[in-house]
Amino acid sequence: MPPPVPEPAGSHPGWPARLGPLRVRDLEVRLRPVRLRDGAAWARIRQRDEEYLRPWEPTSHGGWSRRNSTAEWPGRWYLLRTAGRRGLSLPFAITVDGGFAGHVMVGNVVREPLLSAYVGYWCDSGLAGRGVTTAAVALVLDHCFGPVRLHRVEATVRPENTASIAVLVKLGFRREGLLRRYLDVDGAWRDHYGYALTAEEVPPGGFAAKLIRDGRARRA
Ligand SMILES: CC(C)(COP(=O)(O)OP(=O)(O)OC[C@H]1O[C@@H](n2cnc3c(N)ncnc32)[C@H](O)[C@@H]1OP(=O)(O)O)[C@@H](O)C(=O)NCCC(=O)NCCS
Repeated sequence: MPPPVPEPAGSHPGWPARLGPLRVRDLEVRLRPVRLRDGAAWARIRQRDEEYLRPWEPTSHGGWSRRNSTAEWPGRWYLLRTAGRRGLSLPFAITVDGGFAGHVMVGNVVREPLLSAYVGYWCDSGLAGRGVTTAAVALVLDHCFGPVRLHRVEATVRPENTASIAVLVKLGFRREGLLRRYLDVDGAWRDHYGYALTAEEVPPGGFAAKLIRDGRARRA
């Protein structure tokens, strides 16, 4: 294979982007860049879902309520938007039937020669177990290995996080090892499994196509 052609400095292929739709059960799943006006929905879900989210997310120094308030969002949104514009991340909002439902965050984007990033996600507990996050991450992976031209996407997860591991396994992520005391989560340094996928492992037709073949999603 010829070496990749270096990209012009400052270019960030594949951002901004709108992805989907995919249908899971009776729900329509799409992704779009996070917006300033997501603040009220973001804070409402995250305040209500503290017990659901806190065991798996980086420690919220300053207190969950304050760090997830409507007033906190504009600052976070600005940092996310800036990182997106600088080519460091792809900060997606998940929408379900048009309403804000969570995040899929592609972060730590490193271009040549690594062409690598990590993916992280969370979703409204009211939609849990219906395939929304798996569909959303499938669309994002197709985008990462397509227009963004990444070669490797990583994900880290606590061994106790059964639902998140299920998302990764359904998509074909490969477990590479255990990262000791990897991340400060819920007040302590927690071990995480490291999972990854490389471009050579993209299923025929892509990840969304695989979910459709597996009977887990439909084209809208
Ligand atoms: C992880 C998370 C994003 C999954 O979202 P979701 O929309 O429910 O995911 P999906 O419905 O696509 O898939 C979840 C899978 O886990 C399974 N699952 C959920 N809870 C489970 C449990 N306690 N034990 C076993 N399996 C479980 C579901 O059955 C489903 O698998 P299936 O489709 O084979 O039935 C969501 O639980 C969440 O936001 N958790 C808190 C934040 C978090 O953990 N983020 C990831 C950090 S690595």
